Amino acid sequence: MRLDGKSAIVTGGASGFGAGIVRKFASEGAKVLIADLNIELANALAVELGESVQATRTNVTARGDVKAMADAALAAFGQIDILVNNAGTTHLPAPMDEISEEDFDRVLAVNCKSVFLTAQEIVPHMKRRRAGAILNVASTAAVSPRPRLSWYNASKGWMTNATRGMAIELAPEGVRVNAINPVAGETPLLKMFMGEDTPEVRAKFLSTIPLGRFSTPADMGNAACYLCSDEASMVTGVCLEVDGGRCI
Ligand SMILES: NC(=O)c1ccc[n+]([C@@H]2O[C@H](COP(=O)([O-])OP(=O)(O)OC[C@H]3O[C@@H](n4cnc5c(N)ncnc54)[C@H](O)[C@@H]3O)[C@@H](O)[C@H]2O)c1
Repeated sequence: MRLDGKSAIVTGGASGFGAGIVRKFASEGAKVLIADLNIELANALAVELGESVQATRTNVTARGDVKAMADAALAAFGQIDILVNNAGTTHLPAPMDEISEEDFDRVLAVNCKSVFLTAQEIVPHMKRRRAGAILNVASTAAVSPRPRLSWYNASKGWMTNATRGMAIELAPEGVRVNAINPVAGETPLLKMFMGEDTPEVRAKFLSTIPLGRFSTPADMGNAACYLCSDEASMVTGVCLEVDGGRCI
């Protein structure tokens, strides 16, 4: 029960990596609010995991929704110990000069503006309590960008830079901020990164991962649990590759 007594918000927690983080947090004793656009999926996971997990419909790009998410967590738990900024999206692989402005704006809003909005709503609460752990789910794309995903890569580079900036500013306030950099993982988003899900494209992606497999939601849950637990109380500003060696 490494997260016993803690309460957490996981954005995008209904699916993929976020769901893996929610499952791990719940199994380690945390109370969790899943904040996701897909409320049906979020509710189903909350029901499956029992009364320590709740769900709320949140669009992380909308200030009103993010405020309502923070209010819901405070009403349910009385405090927010952990915030996981996991909700994210991509454009399809394409030459950088062919990606539409709409796609660019959507990716930057979900992957970057959301971190700004959750900070505005939740950091003041953490500062008042002089405690808190924030985890940003970035990507190996921030470290070792793949071609044709340029604006997605850039959004994740923004996120790792924001992680380090937030960490240095919030350290004197008792708040830690870290990131994980997942490699390609078995989630619904993988198909969008690959463009097309064929054995050939899968083999190409796999050939870049020295440990020889895609990452899983459970891998991210395990890394997130460590970084958000008191075991990592001396760890801040770290962007941890969970990537089977891809960035070596
Ligand atoms: N899957 C990969 O290969 C991979 C690799 C590196 C990083 N990541 C990152 O991991 C994170 C999770 O991705 P995933 O692969 O689990 O994807 P996923 O599509 O399985 O899950 C993303 C979740 O975010 C939710 N979401 C999307 N937009 C939202 C919004 N505006 N407001 C609230 N919720 C929203 C979706 O409903 C979904 O439940 C993302 O930040 C992604 O960039 C994924």
